[in-house]
Parts: sequence; structure tokens; C-alpha cells
Amino acid sequence: MNGPLCFLGIEMSPYAVAKTLVVWEMLLQSQEQHHLRSVMQVWFSTTWEEETMEMAKQALANLCQSDEKRHPKVTGLLRHWKDAGKMPLQNARTQWENRSTNERSFVSHFLRKQDRIAMAKYELTGDFGIKPGGNPTCGNIIMLDCPEGTAPLSRDETVFSCLNWAAIASSLYPNTPVIETAENYVTERLSKVAGWARLGRVTLKLVCDDVQNMIESIAASKPWTMSWSNVLDYIDYADFHRLARACSIHGDTLHFGYSMNWPTNVFGVNIIDFPRRDLADFRKKVLENANHCVEMQYTMLGWQKYLRLPPPTNPINTTCSMLEMGQYKTWADYFFGIGRLQGPCEVGNVEHAFGSPLSPTGSCTVSFTWTYDPEIKFNAMPNNYF
Ligand SMILES: C[S@@+](CC[C@H](N)C(=O)[O-])C[C@H]1O[C@@H](n2cnc3c(N)ncnc32)[C@H](O)[C@@H]1O
Repeated sequence: MNGPLCFLGIEMSPYAVAKTLVVWEMLLQSQEQHHLRSVMQVWFSTTWEEETMEMAKQALANLCQSDEKRHPKVTGLLRHWKDAGKMPLQNARTQWENRSTNERSFVSHFLRKQDRIAMAKYELTGDFGIKPGGNPTCGNIIMLDCPEGTAPLSRDETVFSCLNWAAIASSLYPNTPVIETAENYVTERLSKVAGWARLGRVTLKLVCDDVQNMIESIAASKPWTMSWSNVLDYIDYADFHRLARACSIHGDTLHFGYSMNWPTNVFGVNIIDFPRRDLADFRKKVLENANHCVEMQYTMLGWQKYLRLPPPTNPINTTCSMLEMGQYKTWADYFFGIGRLQGPCEVGNVEHAFGSPLSPTGSCTVSFTWTYDPEIKFNAMPNNYF
């Protein structure tokens, strides 16, 4: 195939669109390795070094000068950040502290002292991507200075809600603490994307809208792949299938998506679903088996060298993955059964995520690949669902 990979992002959150535009513009400007640190700080850190402030302000000036047509709320956010003053460090620290509950600390999960220290520092400050020995000088205005009416920062979110723990764990070295390893992982990947972006091998267009308003133009662009993230958690399943089918009406489209909310509608995937006294033995067995499964999983992946066993977390967290394993295929069958009532719908793959042991969200994710094009046939995979 010739020509660039064209990424069209449709997202109803003006904040998500505006922030991504800033990150992309900074990636296009990244000529040197240290610029990638600044991109990483804008994306993840509560605080910035001086050069990050300069680079972000330049990116915002470029974006505000452009005559590209944007959603007024996206333009409003970009202008707000362009005109925002330097945020005092103390302000950033206080906001971060107010968004953390301490209930979700992961410090005690680590076996190595260097990881506990690094994690404690990260949990206390929210600093991420600051160069070794460097000093942050101001708060991240894109994270912490938004116009009235912008949704506040989620509580207890950490970089590990977003980053691939398995990849990070596989590159943990004896003298490199976990946060530094995570920073190296992000820099490496940003470096790849920045290279593709500067060479024009990947192009990005972001639209702030409900995807329901874009059906015709999406279908007209004849997408090969559509990645829905967890949009299906936001709408009725029948409506979702109608929407996805209409976007791929010209055929040849593979769909990817995942659900994070499916357990909220399924009985028996939470240990709390078994409250009766006569089930106490059952609950104990589930917990013991879950601890055993986690131990096998950690040992298989080599995580037992870094993480404590059994995980120091409450029984709901420990057992949910095991209880979900017994139910997720039935739920997926139900979800795709609704799609099949409307026409052809072929499923290639359904997977329950391993989940990051360090993420306060998202360990129950079930993801899938499917198509409505009857001419696309999936090869049978070892873990194939149908
Ligand atoms: C898990 S987040 C993914 C965020 C980001 N778009 C990405 O792909 O990394 C799911 C996102 O779906 C967006 N969303 C949900 N329903 C939508 C819809 N009907 N149209 C456009 N965006 C939608 C929400 O605003 C939310 O940010």
C-alpha cells in the first residue's frame, strides 16, 4: 500500500480533542530526544520543566493561528491555555493531593525498595517524565488549568491506567526503578510516532462530535479499520450495532472495540453477588483459587520478582478477574447476538484482558474484533471464540 496511514479520530469530549491536538503539534515539533520528555510531561505529569512550558506555548500559538475549522469548545480550550499564566508549583501539588484518596496506593505492591520509593514519589507529586536531577518549575496548565465547566481530573488515575504494564515489566532492569522504566517505555514509543508524523507517514485529523452525527462521511471514506474504544458502553447495544454497521456499509471494514462496563450488568462476576452466610465457604474457595491463579500468572510472566504475592488488595479486586473468566464469553455472545438480529456479523476474536495489577481502573476489559461484511472470513485462531 502506498501513501500515509490516515488516522481520523472522532471524540465527543472537547478536552480529549484539544489535549491530543497539543500533543500532536508538539510531536511534529520534536526534533531532538529531549523534546519527547516535554511531550511526555504535557501528557502525563502534574508539573513541567521550563522548556516544556516554552514548547507547549509554541504549539498552542501555532494551533491558535491555524485557520482549521474546529468545534468552538476545542478552540476555547486552546485559547484558554495559550493565554494562561505560569501555574505555581504549590497550586499543582495541592490540586494533585486533592484528587488522590490514598486508598488506591500501589506502593506496597512492590518488592524492590527502589520501586517503592519511586512509586511513593510519583503518587505524592504526580511528576512524570522530569529529567533525572531536573526541577519542575510550574504546574501542567493543560491538566490543571481549564475553563469553568470542564470535567475535573479523575480521582486516583495514574499513568498505569494507560500504559502497558506487561511491556514495562519485561524491561525492568536491576538498577532501574519502575517509574524510570515506564518513562523510557513512553519515550521509545513517542520517538517512533514522532518520526512517522514528521515524515508524513501518519496523518491525523480530529473531529469533536458524536460519532452518530458523522455516519455518512465515515461510510464515504470506506474505512479499513474502525477502532471504537469503549463507545459501546455509552449506548444501547442494538443502537451501537446499527451505528457501526452503517459506518461500514460499503464493506471491507474490520471493527475493534472493548467494553469496560460489561460486569455492571452481569450477575456473578463480583464476590459481593454471593452475600449469603451459607456461601461463606464458596467465597473463601473463590478467593483461594483467585490468589493461586494470580500467583501462576505472575510466575509465568516473571512479575513475581517485582510484585508481592498475594497482591495486597481487597478480595473484590483479587477475585473479579477469575469470576469474570467464567462469564465473559456468554456476555460477548449476548452482545453479538444483538448484532446478528440485524444482519451478518462475524466475530474474529474475543479476549479478556490480563489487566495491569497497578491500574485502579480497567482490569475487567473484554475486547473484540468483528465485521459486518459477509465476505470477510476470519482464520480460526487458537483462542478463537466462535
Ligand atoms: C475509553 S475513552 C477513549 C478516549 C480516546 N478517544 C481514545 O481512543 O483514546 C472512550 C471515549 O469515548 C467517547 N465517546 C463515547 N461515546 C461517544 C460517541 N457517541 N461519539 C464520540 N465519542 C464518544 C468518550 O468521550 C470517551 O472519551
